[in-house]
Amino acid sequence: MGRSARKGKFITIEGPDGAGKTTQAEKLVEYLKSKGKRVIATREPGGTALGEQLRKILLDPEGSPVSSAEALIYAACRAQLLEKMVIPALKEGFIVVCDRFVDSSLAYQGYARGIGINRILQLNKWVIGPYWPDVTILLDIDPAESLKRLTGGKDRLESEALEFHQKVREGYMKVREMFPERIKVIDASLPVKEVFERLVAELEKAGILE
Ligand code: TMP
Repeated sequence: MGRSARKGKFITIEGPDGAGKTTQAEKLVEYLKSKGKRVIATREPGGTALGEQLRKILLDPEGSPVSSAEALIYAACRAQLLEKMVIPALKEGFIVVCDRFVDSSLAYQGYARGIGINRILQLNKWVIGPYWPDVTILLDIDPAESLKRLTGGKDRLESEALEFHQKVREGYMKVREMFPERIKVIDASLPVKEVFERLVAELEKAGILE
């Protein structure tokens, strides 16, 4: 099933930690449901039983795999999520809203961890096949600001130095240059309501809400 044969739509939401992805994803799901759309919400890493187990390993503040092993585990979560949830939902005509997807691997492992965006892209091309998102919303914000928003216990990645998060942001911008058609950037320093209005406007422009 290529993109043209898909009955549903695949939307992913990306951005650095604290950018407000989860809030915006929840608002989007409510909005789509209020419009009578059939929606499935999920997240990465996680979203399946195996994925949630792997999430615990990946985000363990006491230490977890880094470098190539880390990239492969994220890819394994993605393969499972696609197979068990995303592909069947798209076939049934659902709109799938996913909080993080491949662009997180490209920005975090590919760029910020220094494995190389292209190497991570090659791995993920194999995992994703034709199931690339129809549209990706990238919530862009200065990490110095977004990290202040995080409360409670920090997971392993959230505890990284500001410098790491600045690299993640740079990485996202590079990934955006590679996929300008698919990735729409929104200024996430704006109030939640305004960010959401812009998000809906982008999805309308992309023909996702028809
Ligand atoms: P979350 O709390 O936004 O769900 O984030 C999970 C963390 O996992 C976040 O710090 C980013 C990281 N991550 C990667 O490094 N690579 C990936 O491919 C994905 C999906 C997440």
